[in-house]
Order: sequence, then structure tokens, then C-alpha cells
Amino acid sequence: MSSKKKSSSKKALRPIPAPSLGAALIGKEEEKLALQVLRSRALFRYYGPDPKRPPMMVATLEKEFRKLSGAKYALAVTSGTAALEAALGALGVGPGDEVIVPAWSWISCFTAIVRVGGKPVLAEINDTLSLDPKEIARLTTPRTKAVLVVHFQGVAADMDPIIAEAKKAGIAVLEDCAQSPGVIYKGKRIGTIGDIGIYSFQHNKTITSGEGGMLVTNNPRLYERAVRMSDLGQMRPYHAQQVPPSEPGFAGSQFRMPEIIGALALAQVRKLDKIRKHCRKLNARIMKKIGKLPGIKFRTIPDPKGDSGFEIYFWPATKELRDAFRNKLIEAKIPCTQMTGTYAQYRREYVVTGLAHAPSATPFPVGPGWPAKGYRQEDFPVTEDLAPRFVVLPIGMNFTEADADRIAAAVVQIHRELGIS
Ligand SMILES: Cc1ncc(COP(=O)(O)O)c(C=O)c1O
Repeated sequence: MSSKKKSSSKKALRPIPAPSLGAALIGKEEEKLALQVLRSRALFRYYGPDPKRPPMMVATLEKEFRKLSGAKYALAVTSGTAALEAALGALGVGPGDEVIVPAWSWISCFTAIVRVGGKPVLAEINDTLSLDPKEIARLTTPRTKAVLVVHFQGVAADMDPIIAEAKKAGIAVLEDCAQSPGVIYKGKRIGTIGDIGIYSFQHNKTITSGEGGMLVTNNPRLYERAVRMSDLGQMRPYHAQQVPPSEPGFAGSQFRMPEIIGALALAQVRKLDKIRKHCRKLNARIMKKIGKLPGIKFRTIPDPKGDSGFEIYFWPATKELRDAFRNKLIEAKIPCTQMTGTYAQYRREYVVTGLAHAPSATPFPVGPGWPAKGYRQEDFPVTEDLAPRFVVLPIGMNFTEADADRIAAAVVQIHRELGIS
């Protein structure tokens, strides 16, 4: 064999692709359902050109989502943010009410509360990277109406102590499953453990229709109120068939999901467990090789049997070591950025200013002395320690076992090079 032939037969390693979940699987199933909608010319979920055949795509999505989540009721809406506002509205959160929310969370976990007139009260996370259950007792006041629990990036928050604390405090539990669809906590899909749950189908999420959201609950009253929030206060016959209306109409918003988005979301929901299975498999393969490395601490997973496994988090002892670890991962071309955004709320502009769209709409005493205690960086020592110090290893649907092995080998090598023990 010539030397030229010899070198070309040595297979070059492909670069590990940018991680992608549901978006990586968009294919003929999505095409087929979307085309079905276009050809029917019925783009609106409640009626189309044929009065005898009401459009079915969003209705089917809700039906399959009920089955998947185990919830009695599911309501498709235009985004996860819309679902949050509908859920908060359903719970009756308004001016004067407080909602506990992790300081480390997505923008709209905070802004949705302000949009319905409530006051977000920021809580510390713990090493699950979700709400610290002990924060509920510390932060509850006579004005607290609910706690918004964010199941952060494919892992359930520790729901048993959260539910126990919420019961003790007499407040409702809103589960934000936008980053963790399909995740199981102690045998139950998240979203139905608390009073009401929401999901997002935005592009970076586990399953996606570009934009889109879902709300689930077992409570007929909350379902009716969420429907009214999402459809201008109305309760159309389709929903009235599921829950006979018993609530008075009120001024709602308009968050209705269109049929074409329903088609895409439906095709993706059918792929959810395949995505979870793939990510869990590669996650276990990586963890087998790195899980016992000394001197680094891995994220606590409250139910390791039920997470989605699409991101691995660990903490080196110091911020300096973390930065060195990340720089070396970047040099080795190993993906190490979270797949969806999460922020320390107290650093965002809307918290620093305390403003809403009109001066009278803010729940905060803005002016001299703002940001007040509870809205400043120095009030969150645990979050400030945990969030800037983790290393994250995302796993995509487009990753292979060979990619997983290279990620694990790079972590082991960097750990050795940095002399972590
Ligand atoms: C935890 C969480 N909640 C809510 C949302 C809002 O979802 P959407 O972008 O669909 O409005 C997101 C989106 O990133 C999220 O991560």
C-alpha cells in the first residue's frame, strides 16, 4: 500500500456538531402534517372552510399531550411565555400578589408575573440548579399566591419537599417545564405534580415548532380560566365540551395556537421520548467515564431515573479552575454552552430599573433606594456561587457514541492537565 493511500485510509475525526435536539429531527413527519394543514386551507384552530369538519391539528396535539403528561386538561398556546401568563391569570395572580420565582431562571419567569400585575419575589437555587425548597418558608408572606418552579434544563426540581413546603405555606405551585418536557419525577411526568404546568416549543427547546407553548392541569377551574385568558375571555364549545363553564367571563388575552404550528408541534411531541432515550444513553456513557473524577462535584439530580440527560453540569472548586476548564474544552472543540438561556434575574435591565410598560404598572417602589433588598446581587450568595462556576456539557440528538467518547476523553484529559484532585 502506498504511503498516500495509508494516510487517506486513516479516518479524520468529524467535528462535534453544535448540539441540537428536536430541531435536528425536523423531517418528513413535520412536512406531512404541515402540508395536510395547508392543503385543508384550515389555518385557524376553531373553524375552517368546511363547517362539517373542524380543524383537528391543535386538538390532536392537546389530546396527545394529555396522554403523554397524564394531565386531565391540556391547552396549546402561542409560546411558553403566553402559557406562563395564562397560568398566572388562571391562578388569579394580580396586583398586590407575590409569586416566588428562582433568581436563576428565564426572562419571562419574572416578566410574566409583572405582566399580570403580580410581584416576583426572587429565591435562591441549590445544587439541583432549580429552586431551593427551603426558600418557600423564608419568602412566603400573607400576600404570596404561588411559587413558580423551574425544572432547569432536562432535570426535575425536587418536587416532594417543594410540594410539602407549598402546602404548609398555603400557596399554589406553577411548574415551568419549558426546559424539561417529558421529564419524570418519581414515576410522574412533571407538570402535573403541582397545580398547573407549562411548556415551550421555542426553537432551542427539546421539541420545537419554532414558537409555541402548552399548559396542563388536572383542575377544571384552572383549565377554564386558562382558556379564557388565552382566548379573549371566551369559552368556545370545543373547550366547553371538556369542562362545562362555571366561571364568569373576564377580559383575557389572545394566545391561540394556529393549526400549522400545531402540526409541527404534534410531529415533534411524537419524537420526545426518542430524544430523551438517546440523550440519556449518551449521558450515561459519558458519566461512566467522568462521574467519579475527584475534585469536581456533579449536579444533584433529584430523580436520576427520570431526567432527560441532555446536559451534564459539574463544578470545579473555584471560578478560576472553571474558566481554565472551559477554555480547554473550547480549545478541544468540545461544545460547552447551555442550550437555552437562563440568567441571574437581578442583573437584567428590567430588575435594575424595576420598570413595567407604564409607571403605575410596576409592582416595585422604584426611585431612590431601588433595587431594594431581595433584588440585588449581594442578596443571593448561593446562586452567585453556583451559577458562574459550573461547567456544562450539552448532548445533542445529532451526537454519536463516538462524540460522547471524545467528550468524556477530553474531560478526563483536561482534569488531569489542570491537576484537579
Ligand atoms: C424556563 C423557561 N420558561 C419559559 C420560557 C418561555 O418560553 P417561550 O420562549 O416559548 O416564550 C422559556 C424559554 O426559554 C424558559 O426557558
